[in-house]
Amino acid sequence: MKNKIKFNNIFIFLILISVAFSCQSDDDMPTETPISVSFEVIISEGNTLRVLANNTSTGIGGLNSYWQFTENGEVVADQAGPEMYLYSASGDYLITLTVEAPNGDIQSSQTITITGEDYVPPALKDATSSFSVGMAVRSNRLTGQHNEVLVRDFNNITAEYEMKMDQIFKAENNMDFTASDKIVDYGIANSMDIHGHTLIWHNATPTWVENFSGTNAEFETMIETYITTVVKRYAGKVRSWDVVNEAVEDGSNSLRNSVFKLKMGDDYIEKCYQFARNADPNALLFYNDYNITFDAGKQASVFALVDDLKSKNLIDGIGAQMHISIDFPTKAQIESVVNGTISRGLLIHFSELDVRVNPNNDITSLTEEREIAQQNKVKEVVEIYDAIPNANKFAITIWGMRDSESWLPDFWGNPEWALLYDDDFKPKKAHNGFLEALD
Ligand code: XIL
Repeated sequence: MKNKIKFNNIFIFLILISVAFSCQSDDDMPTETPISVSFEVIISEGNTLRVLANNTSTGIGGLNSYWQFTENGEVVADQAGPEMYLYSASGDYLITLTVEAPNGDIQSSQTITITGEDYVPPALKDATSSFSVGMAVRSNRLTGQHNEVLVRDFNNITAEYEMKMDQIFKAENNMDFTASDKIVDYGIANSMDIHGHTLIWHNATPTWVENFSGTNAEFETMIETYITTVVKRYAGKVRSWDVVNEAVEDGSNSLRNSVFKLKMGDDYIEKCYQFARNADPNALLFYNDYNITFDAGKQASVFALVDDLKSKNLIDGIGAQMHISIDFPTKAQIESVVNGTISRGLLIHFSELDVRVNPNNDITSLTEEREIAQQNKVKEVVEIYDAIPNANKFAITIWGMRDSESWLPDFWGNPEWALLYDDDFKPKKAHNGFLEALD
């Protein structure tokens, strides 16, 4: 790849004002260490609106200090490590560091010039031709800056939730395709692959389906009608489908006791794949699940399930959901699901990638250290994917655009910064980690 990025080479821009100050002047008092207040400012190369201010003062141990970045007059307590501040616009800004010394406040100030001229990294989708790069989308996030990032970086989209059964199958004789059509039309208009997610998922089943009062045979016909209608509607448009999602229990070799298993029998999965295959023989059919990298029992039962479908030519690939953290699962664990999939001659989709930086809930804002750890984990994941034989490659899909749009804070109840763009749509270091892996 040309234009190699050295994100680590953030340049040190303006530096070091020192104010030497002697605390004591009386001759009869002991001499104390002079206080010297200074700081350096680093402007991020990836986002020139973002600065890191690093307190380099000496002799201030135990004294409180705080920052003012001028833009909104806010006073920010100085913490260990560099303080990150994001300006909203270009301009000249006075940054002041104040130390509360025993004989009165000591300040150091410097004006910095924020240009807002952002370094534009190469597009993710242009970094490889052997697999596509996907993003989870919503029908109301396809315009403006969402659109700009989508068309620049991605050539595959997955509906984050609007193609699930509870969104489409409103009642037995009522399927609502308003949102799903919008997403599919958008993908087609922008020449993107569209991954259908998901026909059957125990967590997105409409209440009326859960409480279905007809016979088991009627239930099965109703499900066949649903899968057939949806898959036929998008035949030739939706290239691939997660037919069944998350059917295997955690840590075990048994299937979840979903309403589908209850009413259609233990072979409900095979039936659903057959309905999908019949409806669009050209669509690629995937089984998608989470924790199959490190949960050995679950991985084994997913492989057994998939082997059975493969023997009947009903499956084309496995989706390994990549809801991971900066330090877990390990490279070897991720490779285990990759190798098992390759040995079965199937496609592998790294679906739903997000990388938690705060799994232990011990930070309240994104630190430089965690952002770098996230960059390294994304790089590792993409390197693993890139090493897969081309015949088994499919796509890596990222589960949401901006950090604030991720499903994770709601799901875990922790603050998180798990995605590749900050809240200003600016690529984070993790975005660069993706590119570095393909360099
Ligand atoms: C999540 C979406 O991100 C949320 O917006 C929605 O409310 C619930 O589903 N496994 C999956 C995805 O297969 O469909 C889930 O997506 C996340 C877990």
